[in-house]
Amino acid sequence: QLLERAQYLLSAHNAKQLPEDIGNEVAFAGRSNAGKSSALNALTRRNALARVSKTPGRTQQLVFFQVTPQAHLVDLPGYGYAKVPLDLKAHWQAFIEKYFRTREALKGLVVVMDIRHPLKEYDLQMLGYAVQRGLPAHALLTKADKLGRGQQMQTLQQVKKELSSRFGDSVSVQCFSSESKQGVDEARLVVGGWLGL
Ligand code: GTP
Ligand code: MG
Repeated sequence: QLLERAQYLLSAHNAKQLPEDIGNEVAFAGRSNAGKSSALNALTRRNALARVSKTPGRTQQLVFFQVTPQAHLVDLPGYGYAKVPLDLKAHWQAFIEKYFRTREALKGLVVVMDIRHPLKEYDLQMLGYAVQRGLPAHALLTKADKLGRGQQMQTLQQVKKELSSRFGDSVSVQCFSSESKQGVDEARLVVGGWLGL
């Protein structure tokens, strides 16, 4: 599978540093510490591709990974981290909002949520950005290994219902674990499809 070829490309702190807006791109969003970087590593089957941190709020830029010259994965900065200064927060909010509004290469959004705390305000905001633009989104309920199967299925059903009432069928959702690799194949199909791999 091509996703395994992913390599670090660059980190962008502002719009000027973004790579050329060509090909296909899939962005990964989520609250700080939700498990975005771990999910990227699991999906690309590369243990140390995206940096995994126990300190929330570590990823402070848009980190681009190149799968092929025409296919990129993007690790967005984690949101909802209280210790980030307000002016920095405002900068990120504006940067990300513009990225969502204008980026032609962007073909889909993956929102990574801790299965124990799904659908927080910022998650819904990111999903809203994507759906408003007509982009599909896929939610990963990650750290599923922290719950038993029964609780996983219960949460999945609740989240499905909430997403379809808010966004219709633009947003799909699944359980996921970077630890146990549950749901990795399913997510790879979605992401690989959006990237045109
Ligand atoms: P920021 O970049 O800081 O926003 O965080 P992130 O969303 O990239 O989270 P990261 O992947 O760094 O993971 C945060 C913590 O959660 C780490 O301690 C991971 O080991 C842990 N973690 C991530 N995914 C899983 C999972 O599926 N299961 C379990 N049990 N722990 C996980
Ligand atoms: Mg990260």
